Amino acid sequence: MENISEQISDIRKEWGDRLLILAHHYQRSAVVKHADESGDSLELARKASQYEKAERIVFCGVKFMAESADVLSGADQAVYMPEMGAGCPMADMATAEHMESAIQYLNQVVTNWRPIVYVNSSAEVKACCGKHGGSTCTSSNAERIFKWAIDQGDRILFLPDEHLGVNSAHDLGISDDEIALYDPEKENGGLSEEEVKAAKVIVWKGFCIVHQAFTVAHVSKVRELLPEAKIIVHPESPKEVVRVCDAHGSTAQIIDYVKNSPDGSTIIIGTELNLIQRLADQEKGRVIVKALVPSICANMAKTNEANLLHTLQAWPEHQVVKVATDIAADARASLETMLSL
Ligand code: 13P
Ligand code: SF4
Repeated sequence: MENISEQISDIRKEWGDRLLILAHHYQRSAVVKHADESGDSLELARKASQYEKAERIVFCGVKFMAESADVLSGADQAVYMPEMGAGCPMADMATAEHMESAIQYLNQVVTNWRPIVYVNSSAEVKACCGKHGGSTCTSSNAERIFKWAIDQGDRILFLPDEHLGVNSAHDLGISDDEIALYDPEKENGGLSEEEVKAAKVIVWKGFCIVHQAFTVAHVSKVRELLPEAKIIVHPESPKEVVRVCDAHGSTAQIIDYVKNSPDGSTIIIGTELNLIQRLADQEKGRVIVKALVPSICANMAKTNEANLLHTLQAWPEHQVVKVATDIAADARASLETMLSL
């Protein structure tokens, strides 16, 4: 009797290029090894639109990523998730209804607002962004997309991650007093008209539990114990943490940082643990890679070899991710704006 891994490989071979398996960098290594492509959110969004021969796409990641794959792939390609319960709590912190009321309020005060939506958001939120002439972004290209809006003379409403919004604005030289926080739980986001007028960038009050766990105290401790080490964190980390680290970047940029580090370096990383462990294994003997503190995405961890195999054997109808046609059209507009920039 073959083990699970061998069974997955056999089915993978049988399907040839009619099947595409995609895995995000935060997936466990046992899943990543079966992927045709692994990558960060931006890379995977591009890949989903490029494999035209794939009849079925199996997305090992979280729901918003599979939705983007469905929106960007052809109408005759079906996207499956091995575990439908793999969501993203941060994506759930913004609804299209709340976003629409935010835009209505902000436009009553000043009219030049451009929505920029992090890909970590629902298809409905991306559709609302598309309808209002905005673009999605990922942590790899947030700075570029922000610049695109600013160069057109626009102010930015960014959602749903406060930290990526603030860190990207800072990267472009926008100061704290030009950034305001919109709290969807409060009337008008808790912002007075004066505060809206003074803001160049308004960020949504949302966060990623995996990255918000990192603190300045964690960084100080590393500086004390390992003064030679370089520290890099994901920009979903709080600004206070990003500012005391040596670098910040998306998962793909973190990988490049490690690969380009001189032999013998020690690199401490603040992001999801699966990626850090894989990098530590790959670079063993050349550089030392460690976690700032272990932080795990419980939703990414829901996909494993057992449920991947089940999907490949049974192709359950309820595991198909399908975005409604009207929502998909507007969501595609915001994703395609990003991909074209
Ligand atoms: P990136 O892959 O864009 O770095 O995003 C990280 C993340 O949190 C995905 O959920
Ligand atoms: Fe969502 Fe954070 Fe997990 Fe990414 S790491 S899927 S942002 S909860």
